[in-house]
Amino acid sequence: MTREDPAPIVLAIAAVMEVQDREVHGHLIRVAGYAVATGKRLRLSSKELEYIEQAALLHDVGKVGIATAILKKPGRLTEEEYEQVKQHPVLGEYIIRRIPALVHLAPLVRSHHEWFNGRGYPDGLAGEAIPLGARIIAVADAFDAMTTDRPYRRAYTAEASAREIAACAGTQFDPRVVKAFLEALAAPQGNPAGGPARSVLKVLLEREGVRLS
Ligand SMILES: [Fe+2]
Repeated sequence: MTREDPAPIVLAIAAVMEVQDREVHGHLIRVAGYAVATGKRLRLSSKELEYIEQAALLHDVGKVGIATAILKKPGRLTEEEYEQVKQHPVLGEYIIRRIPALVHLAPLVRSHHEWFNGRGYPDGLAGEAIPLGARIIAVADAFDAMTTDRPYRRAYTAEASAREIAACAGTQFDPRVVKAFLEALAAPQGNPAGGPARSVLKVLLEREGVRLS
């Protein structure tokens, strides 16, 4: 038996998430766009890029198990509420693992909130122990979260967000992924959301040892 094409199932699940929360659609598309552009910079194979795109579309599927009142809360979460939110990668993995055509994406979904220094969740994995796809999605997700309005704050500018991503290289994020992400963002076709000024990126990239032509 040939394995079922995962694409229609991924899109169906993404549609379910979109119906639950209208704003999610743009977020998923942008995260997938940033993640694939970053993966290309890292010269990943087309198969790996395909998996990363699919996992990016599914990364927050576990949020179906978290109360909307918590997800949309305009103020700070209580400790107990935050503990509930932190369950979503585990719930997501639980769902994805039960769909045979998607089972290969389960580790990426589970690990998208791990930190490069081991201080993330749910498993406290560090460095290369975190699947590369999950390290890429983490950067893409954080950048999109910063550059869009949240219930409790306005969007940060792309410039400020890119600076913050660069500042978190080595702690929250894999420095190699950050470098590739910033390069992708600087490329004219690499930024689906319309990116920060090239001059700002140039400074950030030069600090990372990359020169823009
Ligand atoms: Fe998430």
